[in-house]
Amino acid sequence: MEADDKKELLGESFQGTPTVVPSQPTHTRKLYLESYGCQMNFSDSEIVASILSDAGFSTTREEDEADLILLNTCAIRENAEQRVRARLRQFKQAKGARPHLVVGVLGCMAERLKESLLEQEKLVDLVVGPDAYRDIPNLVEQVHGGQKAVNVLLSREETYAEISPVRLDANGVTAFISIMRGCDNMCSFCVVPFTRGRERSRDPESIVREAHELFEAGYREVTLLGQNVDSYKWNIDNKGVIKDEAQPVVRFAELIDRVAHVHPDLRVRFSTSHPKDMTDDVLEVMAQHENVCKYIHLPVQSGNSDVLKRMNRGYTREWYLERMESIHRIMPDCATSTDIISGFCGETEAEHQDTLSLMEMMSYDMAYMFSYSERPRTLAQRKYENDVPEEVKKRRLQEIMAVQKVHAANRTKSYVGRTYRVLVEGTSKKKEDQYFGRTTYNTVVVFPKEDAQPGTYVNVHVHDCTPVTLIGTITQDSKDA
Ligand code: 5AD
Ligand code: SF4
Repeated sequence: MEADDKKELLGESFQGTPTVVPSQPTHTRKLYLESYGCQMNFSDSEIVASILSDAGFSTTREEDEADLILLNTCAIRENAEQRVRARLRQFKQAKGARPHLVVGVLGCMAERLKESLLEQEKLVDLVVGPDAYRDIPNLVEQVHGGQKAVNVLLSREETYAEISPVRLDANGVTAFISIMRGCDNMCSFCVVPFTRGRERSRDPESIVREAHELFEAGYREVTLLGQNVDSYKWNIDNKGVIKDEAQPVVRFAELIDRVAHVHPDLRVRFSTSHPKDMTDDVLEVMAQHENVCKYIHLPVQSGNSDVLKRMNRGYTREWYLERMESIHRIMPDCATSTDIISGFCGETEAEHQDTLSLMEMMSYDMAYMFSYSERPRTLAQRKYENDVPEEVKKRRLQEIMAVQKVHAANRTKSYVGRTYRVLVEGTSKKKEDQYFGRTTYNTVVVFPKEDAQPGTYVNVHVHDCTPVTLIGTITQDSKDA
């Protein structure tokens, strides 16, 4: 899997990515913004850039010329945190020579590390949690006034619904739309419910409006983002009580339908689905709309029901297999991907074998694979011993990766010989005279440019492949998929 493919879905590239907003005459100060972790964080950075643009900041790719450096951080695994700390130490050195430079931490590391970052290690001036981004301009002023500034309050309401994100590093073709925030699931390994707070859904009108605006601006693909999109709900609470009888209730299936109706040429993707909440009506809406891409990311985490119970995932192996059967019954050609964790607390060799056997049955197009890393405050940290030795976790992870590598290559090979509708995204990184784009199945295709343009659809006949990329030529033939 290439780094960019990874970032596409979950953003698990963990590479700091500097982002740029064009300068306007009213912009007098410069912001350098680096994002880590999941796609939700990259999407949040676009909201932060919008808020700071209104406060007179343009962004720069040069950290040396910045007045304000912000790191949007990830806490999902320990190594993600370590990378951010190393980066902050570099900035601290830079501050020595530039006393007016303000350095801040945003995102998932904010809440837990505010004291150590601000007070003990004195690495930063500013710490802001995911629900407090509207406060950043005030907090920056507070720092200029000589104080350390912090706001890590989580909210039950904040969705930044009406803020128009500044599209950072945009290719002008594909964009992310955040549809909900937080998570109520409490998977025992996961720090997200603590760092991002309670689940809340964004007003569907504002989501559809954003999709319209993107289409009008030339974008041709949107990815609807949430920690558990199947739990999206508007105008109804967790107990099923309708909030306003005069307004419609909107659940995820209805939301996809509305966004799919924005325009037949606007592709719709979404991430992440949850096996315990994914219902057939979502699958049926996907099947009805040609522009809803036939690709589902359905994290399994483990193939063993006892491990799933300890993980507090809310489903068994059998339930997961039944959900995957539904996907293939309703959309026989649908591509799938997953997340897997090796070496969770108490995992036996037999339980690990169950994960491998489930993978054999599923033959995923793609998988994000991790070894378990204990996170503070989580249920697993409080309740279970992190007792699988590091080398066993690593060995199991390697076995999982080896199986996935074979499956991914087989899946790619199985796509050769047919013609696909491909959305042209841009010039291939390896060959200047080639474009790259994606099939509905999210597989990357490269092909000679001819006279096609980014942001348009072409039919591409695929005649060859590498283990992860399809190779083809533009054709006038009708598409197979
Ligand atoms: N250790 C390892 N992997 C984790 N993930 C989440 N928390 C942890 C953890 N503590 C993985 C899960 C999740 C993905 C985004 O990150 O697989 O689906
Ligand atoms: Fe974490 Fe589970 Fe929520 Fe995903 S669904 S963010 S893994 S608690």
